[in-house]
Amino acid sequence: MTEERGPRHEFCQRTSPELAADPWGHWDVLRADYDHFLSLEDHADPTWTFTRHDPIYDALRDYELFSNVAVETCTPVGAHRWIPEEMDPPEHTAYRQLIVSSFSPRAAEAWTDRIRARCCELIDSFVADGEVEVYGQFARQYPTRIFMEMMGLPVDRADELLSWADDLLAEGIGGEARKTAGLNIYGMLIETFEARKAEPRDDLMTLLVQGQVDGRRLTDPELAEYGMLLYMGGLDTVASILACMFRHFAEHPEDRRAIIADPELVDSAVEEILRAYAVINTGRVVTRDAEFHGCPVRAGDRVLLSTAAANRDPDVFPDPTTIDIRRSPNRHLAFGAGPHRCLGSHLARLELAIALEEWHRRIPDYHVVDPDRIVTKGGSVVGIKHLGLAWG
Ligand code: HEM
Repeated sequence: MTEERGPRHEFCQRTSPELAADPWGHWDVLRADYDHFLSLEDHADPTWTFTRHDPIYDALRDYELFSNVAVETCTPVGAHRWIPEEMDPPEHTAYRQLIVSSFSPRAAEAWTDRIRARCCELIDSFVADGEVEVYGQFARQYPTRIFMEMMGLPVDRADELLSWADDLLAEGIGGEARKTAGLNIYGMLIETFEARKAEPRDDLMTLLVQGQVDGRRLTDPELAEYGMLLYMGGLDTVASILACMFRHFAEHPEDRRAIIADPELVDSAVEEILRAYAVINTGRVVTRDAEFHGCPVRAGDRVLLSTAAANRDPDVFPDPTTIDIRRSPNRHLAFGAGPHRCLGSHLARLELAIALEEWHRRIPDYHVVDPDRIVTKGGSVVGIKHLGLAWG
């Protein structure tokens, strides 16, 4: 039966060692053989994987055929859902609307000085050492501190929050430990939401506790799930891209020198890094039987939508494996498309641009310490999770 539906492949984003070893290039290997294929993993619904830009772009926008509601994500408190990620319009629109103005380009811009201060504080903490493990000492610390400041959470508890997030994201960790870590994060969020209900401030948490959907305030679990998505959504994504970005500039002194000589190149360099090292593999559930880009999808099937696969399609991006920091046009899908397009895209761009500027102001020359020790990862947020750099 399934044979009639098209080509099959054993690919599984959660467990594929090839994807973990090369989270970007592996899409080129798959694309050489397939535009789309069906995987039948144990204990999972049939999953279609697309390797080309156009079906991925269309699926991200077509929320009537590809729903986010039924995508099963296990949150620490059980069968709850990420808000607003695991919702479809019009319900999704009402929840997203609550904070959309806080993530506009202008709102992000207003954070420039505070983001820069956090960035400098971190780089200054290790610049004299002459070396750093970028992912742990910088890339994860930086978005965590910015998130905490935006939310109005106590930034002096950043290490605590990070260690819980580590447990939550760790591979091979037991279900109980993961649940405890998740509950600790929920606890920190709920505690602060309660404080804002009693005493409002000018922060994102106050905006969420005061916001209304269908004429009512959000419940505590809804507030916690919203807060959790904002944290987790902006943590590993920014951290992974930062590590990829500094690896690229460590290995390409000509690009490093070009952006130092011409800071106007920073924005296009950031866009190209986002394109070439797209980190999100997202998913949807098919709502009805249909023919989609030559693919006979059926209600209940899952689809795997990789932003990296889309961003490396040679039909849309000439010479996609070359990183060209002047690439233009560069309409990549790193931030997704359609109703769920990344809420934090302007903030993320700013964080990356400021990191490039401030790092190179202090550390203009650096190299990868031991390329064999770079660790990459697969899964829903792919990337680099260990990168040693040295200078001086
Ligand atoms: C370079 C860093 C980032 C990348 C590559 C990225 C990528 C993405 C992508 C691809 C999606 C869409 C997922 C889907 O369609 O299923 C998304 C959604 C989202 N992102 Fe980001 N993201 C980044 C940083 C951030 C930051 C810093 C925040 C906020 C603090 C954030 C908050 C969100 C939220 C709330 C959503 C869900 C939006 C919705 O469902 O309406 N992201 N992100």
